Amino acid sequence: MARIIAGIGTSHTPAIGAAFDNGKTAEPYWKPLFDGYEPSKKWMAEAKPDVVIMVYNDHVNAFDFKIIPTFALGCADMFEIADEGWGARPVPPVKGYPEFASHLVQSLVLDEFDMTIVNEMQVDHGLTTPMTLLFGAPKAWPTRVVPLAVNVIQYPAPTGHRCYMLGKAIKRAVESWDEDLKVVIFGTGGMSHQIQHKRAGLINKDFDTRFLDNLSKDPEALVKIQPIEYLREAGNEAIELVMWLIMRGALGDKVEEVYRFYHVPASSTGVGHIILETKAYHDERAKKAAA
Ligand code: DHB
Ligand code: FE
Repeated sequence: MARIIAGIGTSHTPAIGAAFDNGKTAEPYWKPLFDGYEPSKKWMAEAKPDVVIMVYNDHVNAFDFKIIPTFALGCADMFEIADEGWGARPVPPVKGYPEFASHLVQSLVLDEFDMTIVNEMQVDHGLTTPMTLLFGAPKAWPTRVVPLAVNVIQYPAPTGHRCYMLGKAIKRAVESWDEDLKVVIFGTGGMSHQIQHKRAGLINKDFDTRFLDNLSKDPEALVKIQPIEYLREAGNEAIELVMWLIMRGALGDKVEEVYRFYHVPASSTGVGHIILETKAYHDERAKKAAA
């Protein structure tokens, strides 16, 4: 049986990818941020997932305003890196897993989540920045990736509740795949940020901290946050945080927070990062460590 072992929440700010690609990770502005992800890279190297489900949003790169799917699942064999205006990032293309992704689509649609099937798609910073932060700069990515692109660009984005329920359906879908696979699911974007207009640069550390706390303490409270509340309290782009609720929903009731990092500034974003292990995986690790 395939199983989800952990969820990763992380911001996906494009400037982080640019800083990495241009050799700036040791500069004073960026060093504290990249240092904060060192323990996570170690965690990931140990976890060695077979597949990553990357919940992210496309920022008008794969999709333009002609078609905006609410939930789009990438079923391709390979996803090329999008050119976001300054050339594609010099990172490897992302290897997909068409059979597993098709199974997820089938299970989710039969479970009444009508996914858009995407057989060809380029991926942007929403996906590649988290890959860099957690996997560094390998010649080829060490895991297959199933991209799940969520519309948080044009109103109306799906509610937090809908996203949480989709996460639960993803757990069921993964667990109905016969092959033994270790799956890690990412929720990317956020945390508080507004990148344009009068309130550009808005950060709400209290909001972000409460959100991080409640991922393990009280996810049901997070699910109740309405879209307008994200906007008012944490800026226009904070709505990206609904994608973290897909990740959280996919982990089941009990999780263990094993790592957290929060950092301002990084471009316009309150950078938040968390690693939540499922109770089963956490106990299994503890047993191994004690043996
Ligand atoms: C920034 C953050 C984002 O999530 C994004 O998609 C684009 C820009 C920023 O902080 O600059
Ligand atoms: Fe974004």
